[in-house]
Amino acid sequence: EKAGHRHFMAKEIHEQPQTLSDVIAAFTDGDRIAPPTDFDFASVARVQMVACGTGYIACMVGKYWFEALARLPVEVDIASEYRYREGPVGKDTAALFLSQSGETADTLAALRYAKGRAHAVLSVVNVAESSIAREADVAWPITAGVEIGVASTKAFVNQLAILLVLAIRAGVQRGTIDTAREAELVSGLKLLPGIVSQALALEDRCEDLASRLAEATDILFLGRGPMYPMAHEGALKLKEISYIHAEAYASGELKHGPIALVDRSLPVVVFAPMDPLFDKTVSNMQEVMAREGQVLLVTDADGAAQASAGVWEVLVMPKVDPVFAPILYALPAQLLAYHTAVHKGTDVDQPRNLAKSVTVE
Ligand code: M6R
Repeated sequence: EKAGHRHFMAKEIHEQPQTLSDVIAAFTDGDRIAPPTDFDFASVARVQMVACGTGYIACMVGKYWFEALARLPVEVDIASEYRYREGPVGKDTAALFLSQSGETADTLAALRYAKGRAHAVLSVVNVAESSIAREADVAWPITAGVEIGVASTKAFVNQLAILLVLAIRAGVQRGTIDTAREAELVSGLKLLPGIVSQALALEDRCEDLASRLAEATDILFLGRGPMYPMAHEGALKLKEISYIHAEAYASGELKHGPIALVDRSLPVVVFAPMDPLFDKTVSNMQEVMAREGQVLLVTDADGAAQASAGVWEVLVMPKVDPVFAPILYALPAQLLAYHTAVHKGTDVDQPRNLAKSVTVE
């Protein structure tokens, strides 16, 4: 049942080229984006996204995509905050609820608050028969298959893929993306499962790095732009299964507090593919190195060529168009956490104190 893998999490990590390709097939038609159910994002002025845990992190990435590709403002909330804040939500807003299980109590309660108030209640769910799928006006299927490991991997990557295709669809509807750009993005999307396979080939290298991360008591994750939520994903996965304390910060926030933590005992994982923000992130990274922080730079060959001097370790990722980078950089987040946990001997698939589906508040 684990298909030769030691844990379900490892199996699910390795299924990702296939599950990603399945979701891309489900949301495209030739060189066009074609969600199984269409929603007209030109009919709203803003999107409110709500989720918990890793789903909340996917929504944080979704905000960057919707705002950049469709010029549509997005607000992102943690479900347990959204449900009690009772903030204004009106008919100009599409409210989107994202959940692997479709049964998370706080997300379901948040959906019920928005229902009747928002223009439409949209959902992105992996379990088609779930409460969230049933109560939403639209239920987009995550198409990841059953996920058993408590730490979400393939469902998270497919959540990202869906938010990206919806952002592209919104851009087409709102006139910020023309047919040529849409076709270019769709052809880039279709290459992604192959690039994810290449990233999986870095597993041995991640295992080696993880054996050293396992010595740490605290780890900092940094990123800028859409890599900021990915820093959160790296920290969340690591905490969940290795029990090492980890925190994520936006690179630019470093000097506003967390830099006080930096010394030679602190590994700092920096997610920084070569993109227009690369130099900014590198200068934050140099501030860490000047205080003897141990930088693990996760970048591509161009980034490695430009910024490897003085770093503790570099993990060289395949090159990808920056718009797709969050999907690809989920892989090192997962692999580093997984192998750190294996090294520490924790219960990877059933970490202490956690449940796969949180159906109570
Ligand atoms: O089923 P959901 O997507 O609603 O679950 C939300 C969180 O409980 C979940 O993402 C959790 O954070 C994962 N264990 C993260 O890996």
